[in-house]
Amino acid sequence: MKKLLILVCGLLAGGFSSAFAQVSEGEKAMENSKILIAYYSYSGNTKEVAEAIQSYIGGDLFEIKTEGEYPADYHEMTIQARKEIKDGYRPKLVSKIDNISQYDVVFLGSPNWWGTITPQISSFLESYNLSGKKVIPFITHGGGGVQNTISDMTKQCKDCNIFQDGWNGYGNRTSGIKEWLDGLAL
Ligand SMILES: Cc1cc2nc3c(=O)[nH]c(=O)nc-3n(C[C@H](O)[C@H](O)[C@H](O)COP(=O)(O)O)c2cc1C
Repeated sequence: MKKLLILVCGLLAGGFSSAFAQVSEGEKAMENSKILIAYYSYSGNTKEVAEAIQSYIGGDLFEIKTEGEYPADYHEMTIQARKEIKDGYRPKLVSKIDNISQYDVVFLGSPNWWGTITPQISSFLESYNLSGKKVIPFITHGGGGVQNTISDMTKQCKDCNIFQDGWNGYGNRTSGIKEWLDGLAL
């Protein structure tokens, strides 16, 4: 009887310890991933979402900045942006990442402009080698949703592993981001 009790206790303890081992493996995987959160933001919404992501999972924040300016008038600005997208314009990047190879996971944030990603994001995609990394898009929009943003990101970054179920939210909405992040196997 005593031997049986010892056996049962041993099995139970083994089960518990392997369950704990699984949890800590998952946590380790998350801790061991080096995360970059890169974004372009014209009017601040995508920046807020980037900061919310960082507040939940850590990682390095990086603002994509480029040469060139937009007209102060909103309507004119949108017309210029539309022309840039149509012409395939690639503004020169002025902010630089020291060592992109150190990152395993790259969150990449863009506003939806005319149904697609912004020229600044296209410049970023063409300037850095993201192959072998998990690239997770997050998109902010003014009511149009994701449209062609993630599919164009995927087309423009041929060797990239772009996660298709990225975040998309209206404006600076951050509610639901924690749940979305929790569902990602990073
Ligand atoms: C040039 C331009 C084009 C836009 N085109 C769209 C669009 O096609 N669909 C949409 O839902 N929102 C569109 N928007 C709204 C932005 O996607 C939205 O306001 C976004 O959250 C802005 O992000 P930001 O503050 O980080 O720049 C557009 C905004 C601008 C400035």
